Amino acid sequence: MRVLILAAGLGTRMKSKYPKVMHKIMGKELVNWVIDTAKKLNPSKIAVVLGHKSDLVEKILPDDIEIYYQKEQLGTGHAVMSAKEFITNEDVLILYGDTPLITVDTLKNLINKHKETKANATILTAILDNPTGYGRIIKDSQGKVLSIVEELEATEEQKKIKEINAGFVIYKGDKLLEGLSKINANNNKGEYYLTDVPIYIDNVETYVLNDFSEVLGINNRVQLAEAEKIMRKRTLNKLMLNGVTIIDPDTTYISPDVEIGQDTIIHPMTFIFGNTIIGEECEIGPMTRINNCKIGNFVKIIRSECEEAVIDNNVSVGPYSRLRTGTHLKENVKIGNFVETKKTVVNKNSKAQHLTYLGDATIGENVNIGAGTITCNYDGKNKHKTIIGDRVFVGSNTALVAPVNIDDDALIGAGSTITEDIPKGSLALGRAKQVTKENWVYKKREKGE
Ligand code: UD1
Ligand code: CA
Repeated sequence: MRVLILAAGLGTRMKSKYPKVMHKIMGKELVNWVIDTAKKLNPSKIAVVLGHKSDLVEKILPDDIEIYYQKEQLGTGHAVMSAKEFITNEDVLILYGDTPLITVDTLKNLINKHKETKANATILTAILDNPTGYGRIIKDSQGKVLSIVEELEATEEQKKIKEINAGFVIYKGDKLLEGLSKINANNNKGEYYLTDVPIYIDNVETYVLNDFSEVLGINNRVQLAEAEKIMRKRTLNKLMLNGVTIIDPDTTYISPDVEIGQDTIIHPMTFIFGNTIIGEECEIGPMTRINNCKIGNFVKIIRSECEEAVIDNNVSVGPYSRLRTGTHLKENVKIGNFVETKKTVVNKNSKAQHLTYLGDATIGENVNIGAGTITCNYDGKNKHKTIIGDRVFVGSNTALVAPVNIDDDALIGAGSTITEDIPKGSLALGRAKQVTKENWVYKKREKGE
């Protein structure tokens, strides 16, 4: 099977400089939601039909997608014809780029029905109390599909039909080509309707959808927000039914690709996006944002920002920590308040609890990083590495001027500026020696100064 996604429309009602399918829900473009869902069906190929500002849309598409161009938007049938070379003897599933809520399960059901009945086409339909605006499915007395009639062309009798075309359809490739060669634009819109194809082919089936919200098409920003809400609720419900506690679903944002293990608790005002994986019995939030992180079991993260970080079992982060790309915290590590890490590996049992920046660093096991420690990793041109061995004690307010290597068991006195490597087990002090002048204050007073 192949998948063809129609996404050439501008989406005038979005009132935007950008094509409709580039707008995002849960941080991902509408068209990419559809592509990711299509990929889960393991099709042999996926193609997208682009039109308006295709140069912008192209940039956000994955590399393995074929692109066809529809220069003028002359209707859904015309859009499919623009990708004529894509259509072979294989089945073709047609999806819309502005309909991100469609689920893999529904598409699988549609495909299965198509295969079981050996139909030439199978249309995804829904029964609506208010079918206004949609194409109506016209069947004969035996329930055989004859055609689809668009709202503009429907007679008063046909308008009463409640079974509508949801827009998704799977065709035998050769039958689709045959039908497309016969359709015309002699209708009220002057467009080539894809929905006219069933007139010219026989053996057309329907698969009726249960949850109509899956085919909610997005035309304006109100619907964009509605779709976001539906997607969010669906994702949170699934997680909760799988054993994750979400204290306040109203203020929790988790994107559907996120995986979370049993008995993990998500506190309010928490945002978890991307391909984040979180293990079991963790506590995340409140007020935490996590993107594309891999998190083990029994991890606690409070009021923190985590971006592309790897966090192993039993780690504690926050409050007010910021883990940036390339951070790897190994077992039992503690990262505390106002600590920022970037491209840094912190090995087992080490701690950086207060007011610290660790960038381009490797920290050994059982290390204590004192409050206010800074890796000076940038010389204005290049970034340099700081390497710290096992059991090192870095005194408070130390500046580590990289590149610098601090070997196992070293001890750095508080307030040091370290510019040279420190060998194993050494004490290093990099600060001005203290000067104390006894009774200096009293003497001044005696002089009346
Ligand atoms: C279409 C169906 C209608 C169905 C409804 C479901 C037709 C003629 N009608 O109507 O039966 O009930 O969807 O939502 O197919 N597109 C292009 N090029 C074009 C025209 C459209 O790529 O020239 C794309 C759009 O970007 C969009 C999709 O096709 O992603 C659907 O087009 P749209 O104009 O929204 O169709 P509807 O009028 O909603
Ligand atoms: Ca539409």
